[in-house]
Amino acid sequence: MSNKIRWGVLGGGGDSLIGVLHRVAASMFDAYQLTGAVFNPNHEASLKFASEIGIPTNRIYKDFDTMVAEELKLPSEERIQVFSVLTPNFLHFPMAKKLLESGFHVICEKPMTMTYEEALELETIQKKNNNLFALTHTYTGYPMVRQMKMMIANGEIGEIQKVDAQYYQGWINPIIHDSELRKTTWRLDPEKSGISCCMGDIGVHAYQMIEYMTGLEVKDILADLNHLYDDNQMDIDGTVLLRFNKPAKGVLRASQIATGEENNFSVAVYGKKAALKWEQENPNYLYLLEEGQPLRVLKPGHDYNSELSLDGTKLPPGHPEGIFDAMGNIYKGMAKAVRGEDYNPAEFPSMRDGVRGMHFIETAVGSHRDGNVWKSL
Ligand SMILES: NC(=O)c1ccc[n+]([C@@H]2O[C@H](COP(=O)([O-])OP(=O)(O)OC[C@H]3O[C@@H](n4cnc5c(N)ncnc54)[C@H](O)[C@@H]3O)[C@@H](O)[C@H]2O)c1
Repeated sequence: MSNKIRWGVLGGGGDSLIGVLHRVAASMFDAYQLTGAVFNPNHEASLKFASEIGIPTNRIYKDFDTMVAEELKLPSEERIQVFSVLTPNFLHFPMAKKLLESGFHVICEKPMTMTYEEALELETIQKKNNNLFALTHTYTGYPMVRQMKMMIANGEIGEIQKVDAQYYQGWINPIIHDSELRKTTWRLDPEKSGISCCMGDIGVHAYQMIEYMTGLEVKDILADLNHLYDDNQMDIDGTVLLRFNKPAKGVLRASQIATGEENNFSVAVYGKKAALKWEQENPNYLYLLEEGQPLRVLKPGHDYNSELSLDGTKLPPGHPEGIFDAMGNIYKGMAKAVRGEDYNPAEFPSMRDGVRGMHFIETAVGSHRDGNVWKSL
């Protein structure tokens, strides 16, 4: 009998953006077996998709509640162990809550919930039930992101003075100027997306990355968001000033109307001795800047990289690692945790990242609403 982890999927159907990333990631280290799913709210569509990708349809359930009820009837050695929640945002909390309460481990897409209050409730439930929870801030799985984190932790750039994270996309530009077109994306609907579009969707990636890479805690923020039109309830652009628990200061810039930009996410951390810069669209290059020295470019797979970085590198140097590999590394870390093997907590973002992320989103929206004022986290 296979010793793969029995894996269930909620959302992520053939019509989705993110489903394929999770399926490839889960298959990357031969650790998971896709065992059951509700890929789509339409059962026929779910069944059709399961047939198309060649998985048995006997555990393709008609809806989420039926799935949980039927899985709980199975003996534990047959039951799904880990579920991935890949639905639009408004379903993350009710699904993750019921799954954790029912004893399943959860991998959840970001933003973790719709509100900070829900995030705190989910954290309480996880602690009580003692299950595992991974939040897929995908970019933390890149080898050179992990390397940047470890070099900062080892003091290689000295005390941090300045942090600058930028996450620019342009995909909302063709949509935002037409109020009818705006209705075609759930991300601009507060009922499905939450109180923020730009900060909730991509600003939160940048926020989590800043805390992940630097080990600093954001203490206070001041946000200036842009909705562009009075009849658009959701921010689609914004700049957030950051103050940390140490003297460093930072800026987080996020936009979905940065015309022509694709997925231009970059992070620069400036220390007293040196600086490090990483860019998502060229994720295999980590730039080391030192005064009076030529720019150095660090790459995956070399012995000079940390154990955490090398653990996320599958092939010798020169074989680029991409977004699928980054997500694969998060699934790999979670698989180690599920199997009770040793793992580094930096291998996958946790419930705590989700709680802090939701606090950030709500506080940024509050800071803007109240007249661009400083707010504490
Ligand atoms: N980690 C990342 O970098 C990243 C990137 C993109 C999206 N996301 C997150 O992933 C989630 C999904 O985003 P997306 O772009 O794939 O959305 P999408 O709209 O493309 O796909 C959503 C999927 O959920 C399914 N679905 C909707 N209601 C459902 C229900 N009741 N039961 C089962 N399935 C249901 C839809 O049929 C579809 O397959 C969002 O929360 C988003 O923020 C994360």
